[in-house]
Amino acid sequence: MRKALEGVRVLDMTHVQSGPSATQILAWMGADVVKLEAITGDITRKQLRDVPDVDSLYFTMLNSNKRSITLNMKSDKGKELFVDLVKKFDILAENFGPGAVDRMGFPWEKLQEINPKLIYASIKGFGDGPYKFYKAYEVVAQAMGGSMSTTGFEDGPPLATGAQIGDSGTGMHAVAGILAALYQREHTGQGQRVTVAMQHAVLNLCRVKLRDQQRLAHGALNEYPNKEFGDEVPRSANASGGGQPGWAIKCAPGGPNDYIYVIVQPVGWAPITQLIGRPELANDPDWATPEVRLSKLDKMFQLIEDWSADHDKWEVLAKLNEHNIPCGPILSTKEIIEDESLAENEIVVKVDHPERGEFTTVGMPIKLSDSPAEVKRSPLLGEHNQEIYGNELGLSESDMADLKASGVI
Ligand code: COA
Repeated sequence: MRKALEGVRVLDMTHVQSGPSATQILAWMGADVVKLEAITGDITRKQLRDVPDVDSLYFTMLNSNKRSITLNMKSDKGKELFVDLVKKFDILAENFGPGAVDRMGFPWEKLQEINPKLIYASIKGFGDGPYKFYKAYEVVAQAMGGSMSTTGFEDGPPLATGAQIGDSGTGMHAVAGILAALYQREHTGQGQRVTVAMQHAVLNLCRVKLRDQQRLAHGALNEYPNKEFGDEVPRSANASGGGQPGWAIKCAPGGPNDYIYVIVQPVGWAPITQLIGRPELANDPDWATPEVRLSKLDKMFQLIEDWSADHDKWEVLAKLNEHNIPCGPILSTKEIIEDESLAENEIVVKVDHPERGEFTTVGMPIKLSDSPAEVKRSPLLGEHNQEIYGNELGLSESDMADLKASGVI
């Protein structure tokens, strides 16, 4: 079966997480992704290693289905080879610190000259302006994109979320930009520049918090658990942030992840009162409507917790769903990795690796009926030098030996 992006070629100069998460999706969609690495390799090959001398899970979980070549972009011969490569690819992707590719001698104008059809995608920490030349990592983007100031408890410090919204979140935005540019190229025949800033991507995911910032001008945010409001959106703990109140309530036996997140829609109140053994509250004027419950959401969730604390989260999940009440048990990473339905959905998948053996990774979250993703292992460093430099660019064995000896590949 032909894959959605079959025939599309990506020269992947990305490293760490944000860029690799994007090009991995393109690879799963069928693109030929060739990862171009410095001769020392993407730094994450060696970071957080669990097995000595073997590519880390950090690397293997973000670089599936790619090929790897090495190239020293600071050598003259390396730059020459790079020009030959750029002519053969549709997309060049990178997420180096600001200006790094320019300093290698390849500003956008030059890349366009070399290959006018090239789509050149860059992820940086920030857009134009005072932060343009600053480096960024995940939590820096969370800090400056509105996530940290709105995450946590009111009386605690700002918190980072475990979801990598700054890195992989930005990567997914980059995928959207690259695919749009590919589609536009069908009509114009021209490549274009795609840039995504991590701060912008996080802000896009924090859109509702800017909604609330503007609502504040008209009074308190009553669905928040906070009692007092200043002129900034406060941290609202586990409040849902949407139009329907929600909270994480305790379940038995009381471990750190024995919680379930429950949302009380208007229609859900009557069945909840039955379940928790308080049927009289269904029509009690002090409890019957969302409006009267709004001022005492903490008490409402406490009533539900008085019931849930005697049942485990799976039982609570089943009972609430019998009445179509939206809820979700808090799943630990261990529970997720062992979850059969996630494995059946191929979102938790096992992959074999020549050096580390079998490991588990997160599969393709976007399902295409005519282009199913098949998760394959990440490449070893420079594993495909022969295929690309030898077979494609026509370098002889002795040329390649010389390049290797002189530290070019
Ligand atoms: N051959 C030779 N040199 C290479 C090379 C190659 N194939 N690939 C990279 N390099 C060099 C670059 O030229 C650059 O050198 P220079 O600064 O002398 O010009 C250097 O390696 C890479 O620099 P940089 O990307 O800044 O690495 P870093 O480890 O100092 O910083 C980040 C890492 C992530 C902070 C930075 O890359 C960054 O801010 N990226 C953009 C935002 C981002 O994606 N962050 C999230 C990462 S998950």
